[in-house]
Amino acid sequence: MKINVFESKEELYKSVSEFYIKAINDKPNIILGLATGTTPIPLYKNLIKAYQDKLVSFKDVVTFNLDEYIGLPKTHKESYYSFMRAQLFNHIDINLDNTHIPSGTLEPSEAIKLFQKEFDSFQVDIQLLGLGSNGHIGFNEPGTSFESTTHQTNLAKSTIQDNSRMFDSVDEVPTKSITMGIKDIMRASSIVMIATGNQKAEAVYKMVHGPVDESLPASILQKHKDVTIYLDKDAASLLK
Ligand code: GLP
Repeated sequence: MKINVFESKEELYKSVSEFYIKAINDKPNIILGLATGTTPIPLYKNLIKAYQDKLVSFKDVVTFNLDEYIGLPKTHKESYYSFMRAQLFNHIDINLDNTHIPSGTLEPSEAIKLFQKEFDSFQVDIQLLGLGSNGHIGFNEPGTSFESTTHQTNLAKSTIQDNSRMFDSVDEVPTKSITMGIKDIMRASSIVMIATGNQKAEAVYKMVHGPVDESLPASILQKHKDVTIYLDKDAASLLK
């Protein structure tokens, strides 16, 4: 694991954005695994700016998102379908046919089959990850098998609580999701993880120093040959 700790979030996102801009320019038809949550938003903002400044094009880029809530209509602003359009896709020259997000509205077993089939026909070059405060990646909650592929999950109580800040009330947060599995995530050629803030410090510590154990899904990243972790000093505060 390569760990980069930054004094400020601005420096962190500048560095990770430069990494992505170079990667896309080096391979214009790159396959990107994308994430939602608040963590990637500043990265997406910087990429939109880079596109507007003609520093990068997404014309031939293919994307796969990690996860989606089950049961939210696509038009709901917190569906990851809407999130990706609002935060990135609507502002760049990506071909929407090349963007893949599990469906939260199809019958789940159909949605899983469809997503897995598309996913299996590509090799993700760079998978972006955020980190749940309980150590989840995608929506792979503690206890998920390291051998999992795309599947339906029940969200952990703590995840529902964490994500309720985006909804009007905790009762509106969906309790189920479809997520790329841990085995799928580990198949990516390289992985970029971003974590910021004190509330991630404990999960970061366990991810880096803890045993590789299904109780802390992100600990599996210790076994990947090309992982770069971008942390601000708060998220890194417990590291040895
Ligand atoms: C969400 C997403 C994850 C994300 C994580 C952290 O529930 N499913 O992919 O990485 O939780 O969210 P945030 O970046 O808002 O802290």
